[in-house]
Amino acid sequence: MMTNFFQERDGTLYVEEVALPEIAERFGTPCYVYSRAALTATAKEFHAALNGTVDLICYAVKANGNLAILNLLARLGYGFDIVSGGELARVLAAGGDPAKTVFSGVGKTVAEMEAALDAGILCFNVESTAEMKVLAATAARLGKIAPVSFRVNPDVDAKTHPYISTGLKENKFGVPFDEARTLYRQAAALPSLRVVGINMHIGSQITEIAPYREAAGKMLQLVRALETDGIVLEHIDVGGGLGVRYRDEQPIPLTAFAQMLREVFAGRSERLLMEPGRRMVAEAGALLTRVLYLKPGATRNFAIVDAAMTELMRPVLYQAWHPVWAVTKNAPDGEKCWDIVGSVCESSDFLAQARPLALREGDLLAVGAAGAYGMAMSSNYNARPRVCEVMVDGNEITMIRAREEVKKLWETEQILSK
Ligand code: LLP
Repeated sequence: MMTNFFQERDGTLYVEEVALPEIAERFGTPCYVYSRAALTATAKEFHAALNGTVDLICYAVKANGNLAILNLLARLGYGFDIVSGGELARVLAAGGDPAKTVFSGVGKTVAEMEAALDAGILCFNVESTAEMKVLAATAARLGKIAPVSFRVNPDVDAKTHPYISTGLKENKFGVPFDEARTLYRQAAALPSLRVVGINMHIGSQITEIAPYREAAGKMLQLVRALETDGIVLEHIDVGGGLGVRYRDEQPIPLTAFAQMLREVFAGRSERLLMEPGRRMVAEAGALLTRVLYLKPGATRNFAIVDAAMTELMRPVLYQAWHPVWAVTKNAPDGEKCWDIVGSVCESSDFLAQARPLALREGDLLAVGAAGAYGMAMSSNYNARPRVCEVMVDGNEITMIRAREEVKKLWETEQILSK
């Protein structure tokens, strides 16, 4: 799969109007490359498909929190879903609107709650009784009223990888469906809380609409029950999780998703929110890397590249399959099956396995659909500085994050004086 924005021309891979070898030459490798046109097109596709159905789209910052990306989305009217004080600070630094920001996560600290109350966020997506109590006390102490939505765990199987499935009873996320009604009553009685919504998030990389329909139906059931308790909500947030195509998955069409929401919530007056992350950014980004060494062997052929699990952890963590594209095509006669591996000292350090490619040392490769949970999950393991990120817009290239300097890695460390 190659999107319209990453395309081959005369044997060379381009992002929009820029040849990838030019980026490698100017900025070095490894390097994350994003297409502004792809990001904008996706953001507009969301608006077009969901317009009139979903009132506010809160981009899940965790998928890719680069300020340039957040700022582009803020300018397009997007809100944000955050899970930490750090993400709140990013949203504010990027010019995002706190009044369009929802705060998810099972373990918000008091300091994070204070910062979010100060900023004036849209709501806290509360995930437990204990958290509700701390939030109520924190708001009361500051003389504020915290807007609250409960993340309800609908006990629905999202049919995705177990590590990114979140809506089952055994997952740590959300409040149990059966306890939610009691919790709402308790929250409604607390003067420092204002109950504004309900939300769900059943998992990630979901490609079937049925689990969404089932979970949304359960939310509706609860919303109706709350109404009879005299609790009227302002919004229903259906979470994120929309899958993308890495290999041959069939992503849920956004128009079908909108249609499902209209059917489930027909006649309701609450406004709808959603929290997509991956679907907004995955296909707009690629990881550019260079082949350092070829190590053909009796059982496996290894192509050792300058990127590794430190730059893209998804293959190692979830056995995720990402497309690997040769940036310049060699004659196909030398084609072999290669494992594309990094130089990190872990046997599991791979980016792709058994890929038929004609490779030479020094070749450039692009790992596709890497815009979501790529850079965002990168690490400094093995004292590897974080790589740079560039944004392409037509024939313009902007470095949106500089390659980290090695000396920054120990800037905050201290040698003992004796
Ligand atoms: N809302 C909440 C409360 C979430 O926890 C998440 C993702 C999202 C929204 C956005 O989900 P998305 O639309 O991106 O599926 N690192 C994993 C994905 C972890 C997702 C965690 N939560 C991966 O690389 O596949």
